[in-house]
Amino acid sequence: MSATLLVDIGQLVTLRSAGDGPRRGASLSELGIIQDAAVLCIGGKIVSVGTTKDALRDPWLKKNRKKIVEIDCGGRVVLPGFVDSHTHPVFMQPRLVDFEKRISGASYEEIAEAGGGIRSSIDGVRKASKSALTQKVSAVLADLASHGTTTVEAKSGYGLSLESEMKSLEAIRAAAHEWPGTVVPTFLGAHAVPPEYRVHSQERSQQYVDLVCNEMLPVVAKRKLAQFVDVFSDRGAFSAEETAQIFAAAERHHLALRAHVGQLSEMRLGPLLRYQPASLDHMDYVNDADLPALAQTDTVATLVPGANYFLGLSRYPDARRFIAAGVAVALATDYNPGSSPTLSMPMAMSLACTHMKMSPAEAIAAATINGAWAVRLAGSKGSVEAGKDADLAVFEDSDYREVPYWFGANRCVLTIMNGVPSGPLW
Ligand code: NIG
Ligand code: FE
Repeated sequence: MSATLLVDIGQLVTLRSAGDGPRRGASLSELGIIQDAAVLCIGGKIVSVGTTKDALRDPWLKKNRKKIVEIDCGGRVVLPGFVDSHTHPVFMQPRLVDFEKRISGASYEEIAEAGGGIRSSIDGVRKASKSALTQKVSAVLADLASHGTTTVEAKSGYGLSLESEMKSLEAIRAAAHEWPGTVVPTFLGAHAVPPEYRVHSQERSQQYVDLVCNEMLPVVAKRKLAQFVDVFSDRGAFSAEETAQIFAAAERHHLALRAHVGQLSEMRLGPLLRYQPASLDHMDYVNDADLPALAQTDTVATLVPGANYFLGLSRYPDARRFIAAGVAVALATDYNPGSSPTLSMPMAMSLACTHMKMSPAEAIAAATINGAWAVRLAGSKGSVEAGKDADLAVFEDSDYREVPYWFGANRCVLTIMNGVPSGPLW
């Protein structure tokens, strides 16, 4: 069994347990930092966490030191690997025309109405072979790892036919198989109504929802192609009723739930919370009256400021309002070709600090342990504690606050995924 010892860690951010459930309120800032730390990983798991001095005095370690791979972190910062709990990696081309149109003043919704947006990514996915899609996803996973992400939620959602959605999920599965990190697959058949269900621009939305519920979902469940079902629930996408119909069908197939909510317009959360989704994402427009009920649950509000940044919006999700209300917040990249083509969690964290007034400590907890809650993997991911998976990220920094501070640069020098190291320091 492979054993790796990280020593001479300047600041180890452990995020060790601060009680039950996702972090809320003040506990979002409790990082559990150990100075001059060491972490021992054996067989892909963390087995001990403490100071370098104590680690080097340990009798078992002394005896076995020759068999252990030792990595000197040179006083750098080490965090739990990021959990990016919202990405859309299965697409072929960037959307450069949308990008230019937006620069000239068109909005996300106007571009979508004119045939751009999500629908313009469908063709590429439908025409691509499974192996071409797998290569795309693999490249994304490698890039994510190089930025410190060790667990990623990955959605389908640009195929929007039975065949192309299954092909997308198969590509995620194939790429995940080759990657040492952890992938959580999500079926997002309800991302948009595809063109063949729009007749004379009159949407045959309900027929497409029936296809998602009655044909796609059963195959996803039977072939275990996804752990979650997601719905883009918003103005111009799927309505509250359609979302509830899809959630109910997913529940019948024992699939867990998450949704895109309140990106473009306000939608009341009560009907969705009844289904106990793991996460509600975006949340730019949320009714104040819904916050107490949300705070009572373990449903995480996953905020994705990369989308606000890239769409050129001046308004960002109101993280302070959520945190003050006791809602558990996570941060994710929302990596996708239309609204957020970044796979850098430090960039998302930097935006959260500068535009959403989250502190660097809060941003780190939201990008790690609360991300793990958002994908229901908090038992094994998101903190550096004995018994959890050996997922770590080392940064060219000596203070954890530098991680969101140096925006736009990748300062991650080593990632350990389930005990497997990769990166320039290795
Ligand atoms: O999370 N809002 C829906 N889905 C994506 C955008 C997808 C796209 O434009 O391709 C999002 O922002
Ligand atoms: Fe998204």
